[in-house]
Amino acid sequence: MDIIVQQGDLAQTPCDVLIVNLFEGVTQPGGATGAMDRALDGWIADLIAQEKFKGKLNDILELPTFGKIPAKRVIVVGLGKQEEFCLEQVRQAAGSAIKRAKSLKAKTVATLLHGAGIGGLTVDGSAQAVAEGTLLGAYEFDRYKSAPKDEPKTEVEQVLIVERDAGKLDAANAGMAKGRIIADATNMVRDLASEPPDTVTPGFLAETATKLAGEYGFNCEVWNIDRIKEERMNCLYMVGRGSAHDPVFIRLDYAPARATRRICIIGKGITYDSGGLSLKTGEFMKHMKTDMSGAAAVLGVLRAIARLKPDVAVTGLIPACENMIDGGAYKVDDVLRARNGKTIEIDNTDAEGRLVLADALSYAAEQNFDEVIDIATLTGGCIVALARVWTGVLGNNRELIDAIIAAGKIVGEKMWMLPFDKEVRDMLDSDLADIKNSGGREGQTIQGGMFLQEFAGEQPWAHLDIAGTSYLDKARPYEPKGATGVPVRTLVQHITG
Ligand code: BES
Ligand code: MN
Ligand code: ZN
Repeated sequence: MDIIVQQGDLAQTPCDVLIVNLFEGVTQPGGATGAMDRALDGWIADLIAQEKFKGKLNDILELPTFGKIPAKRVIVVGLGKQEEFCLEQVRQAAGSAIKRAKSLKAKTVATLLHGAGIGGLTVDGSAQAVAEGTLLGAYEFDRYKSAPKDEPKTEVEQVLIVERDAGKLDAANAGMAKGRIIADATNMVRDLASEPPDTVTPGFLAETATKLAGEYGFNCEVWNIDRIKEERMNCLYMVGRGSAHDPVFIRLDYAPARATRRICIIGKGITYDSGGLSLKTGEFMKHMKTDMSGAAAVLGVLRAIARLKPDVAVTGLIPACENMIDGGAYKVDDVLRARNGKTIEIDNTDAEGRLVLADALSYAAEQNFDEVIDIATLTGGCIVALARVWTGVLGNNRELIDAIIAAGKIVGEKMWMLPFDKEVRDMLDSDLADIKNSGGREGQTIQGGMFLQEFAGEQPWAHLDIAGTSYLDKARPYEPKGATGVPVRTLVQHITG
C-alpha cells in the first residue's frame, strides 16, 4: 500500500473512499469535515441531527456521494471526546477507517490529516499516527488463505493524505515517512510470529536476520551449535537438544560512528515451545509458534532503527531454539551451567525461556552497554495478572523501567511494572544448585524476572514480559487478532525519543 501526502482540496479528490472525521458531540462539523458537509449539501449535519452518528471514537458513518463530489463514498470516523484527544485516537481512527475502506473493497482512499487541524496536534506527529494507524490497521496475515473464486482479493493500493496548506507538507511528509518505517517493521514482526513453526525454525530466524542486515545495512553474526558450545552457552544448547533443528545465537549491530548511547535488546527466540518433557497439554500448546515473538521484535527494532538512523548504537541478541522432545531432550532434575558460571537445577523444562535468556544476558553483562532490555513471551502468569492489555515490566533500574513505560504511553502500548522481592527470589532456592528455574505457579512473572536478574549483572536492565500482549484473540482498531508486533513501537520510541 502506497501512502502519499498531497496538497489539494480533499472534497475534490477522486477516490473510492474519502475519510473525514468528527469529534463526539459536535453537531456542526468544521474544518475539512465541514467543507465535505457543504459539498454534500449538509447531509453529514443532517445525519448527526437525526442521531445516526455521534462521533464516538472508532464509530463510522458511511455515505454515498451520488456524484456530488468525485469520491464514490465518504466515511466519517469518530474521534471521541475532544478533551481525551491525542495521537492514540488518531491511530485508532485511522485504523478503523481503513478497515472499513478495505471491507468496501476500495482501491484508492483519500484521508484528511486527523489531528493536525482542529485537533491541535503537531503536523508531523499526526501524519506519523495516520500512517501507522492505516498500515497497522490494514494488516492481515492471509497468505495461506485461498481467495474464493467469485470474490477476487482486493487491496487498498493507495492512500492519499490530502492537506490544503502547502506550509504543512514537509512536516506531514516527514511524519508519514517515519510512521511508514515503524509500521512496516511492526507488520514484519507480525508476519514472523504468524508463520507456522515448521517454517520459522532457529535457522530461519538466522537467515532472516542475515537478509535484513544486508538489506538495511547493519551487522549480523550467527553462531552455530558448535560455536554455542564453545562459548559456554550451555543453557541454549541444552534447551535445544531435543529438537531436530539446531539452536542458533544471533548478534545484530547497528553502530553509528557518532553514537552517544549503547543499548542492547535481547529477544526470546523459542521457535516452538512444546514444554519439553514437562509437556504442555493441547490447550496450552496452541499458539506456541509465537514463543519467538521477542526475537521477532528484536529483528523489527533493528530494521526500523537502521532506517531511522538515530545516534544510538543498538545491539540485538537472539538465542533461538526449539523446546522439543527426543532422546536428547534435557530433563527435569538436570543441572545446567549458564555462561556466567551459575548452576541451574531444572525443576520444569517448560520454564525454558529464562534459560536461553540467562546465557544471552550473561553475554550482554560482559560488555559495556548503557542499558539492556530483554523481551520475552515468558510466563502465562503475566496474562493472568495483566490480561492481554499490559506488558509486564520488571528490572533492576527504576529510571529505565519508567522510561520504557513512558515510551509505551506515547505509542499506545500499555506497560505495567511488577515488583521484585527477596521472598519471591527465595522460591527459586535450590538444594542442589545455585538456583532452580521454577518455584511453582505463584508469582510466576516475578519469579521469571528475578531468575533473569541473576544473569543480568549490575548494568541497568529491564525485562518485558509480552506473553499476553504479543498475541490477541480479539482485534483492536489497529491491532489484528493474532500477533501484534508489541513492543517494537515502544522500543523504537525509547531509542529514538
Ligand atoms: N512460552 C511460555 C509462556 C507463555 C504462555 C507465553 C502462554 C504465551 C502464552 C513459557 O515458556 C512457559 O511455558 N512458561 C510457564 C512457566 C512455568 C513453567 C514456571 C508457564 O507459563 O506455565
Ligand atoms: Mn515454556
Ligand atoms: Zn516458552
